Amino acid sequence: MIDWHTHILPQLDDGSKSVKESVLLINDLQSQGVDTIIATPHFYANDGDVSSFIKRRNGSFAKLQNANNSDVRLLLGAEVRYYPGISRLEDLDKLQIDDSGLLLLEMPTAKWTEYMLHELEQLALLPNLKIVMAHVDRYLKIQPFQVFERLIESGILMQANAEFFIDFFSKRKALQLLQNGFIRFLGSDCHGIKIRPPVIGKAFGVIENKLGTDFVNYFNEYGRYMLKLNK
Ligand SMILES: [Fe+2]
Repeated sequence: MIDWHTHILPQLDDGSKSVKESVLLINDLQSQGVDTIIATPHFYANDGDVSSFIKRRNGSFAKLQNANNSDVRLLLGAEVRYYPGISRLEDLDKLQIDDSGLLLLEMPTAKWTEYMLHELEQLALLPNLKIVMAHVDRYLKIQPFQVFERLIESGILMQANAEFFIDFFSKRKALQLLQNGFIRFLGSDCHGIKIRPPVIGKAFGVIENKLGTDFVNYFNEYGRYMLKLNK
């Protein structure tokens, strides 16, 4: 299983507070069946440029790797916050997940304007990147569904959070959107051992229970392919 969205790198954002907590999170995720974790610390263009972010991220990652004894695969990415003009950000491609070309993009939780939708379509046209919308479940009730259909048509892929599949009120919708191919990636979006702990194993349990093992295998295979892990 791949966890596509985590804040497990120590002391980098509002996620893990220490190397010790990061190691606990990795072990917890592994015990839930995760073999590949994508670290996606928040990137806000207001806080500095891409190269200083990458430098900080690599420093945090190096500290973690010194202490991490698990055989879980850790890949680096970012949760890039949208802002008007992001499509012109130099070095945007350096924020991609590993060398997959996939860029995890976080949108504001307010109604999106036509300008924003248009810019998302511009991002989708970038030749070297493929946009993955972070926790799409957060926006479903804010935008008309046609907005998502339009974005999917432009080539944007959707990531959902594990809670979407666990919450009694959203579970049915989540399974329906997964089954019809709307949701391509699943993430725990974990921030800590106590605050927003990972529940991705439970979400996969719900999925397997309702959609079957073959579906889960297919879903995982797709994820590995998109990460270019099948080479
Ligand atoms: Fe996040």
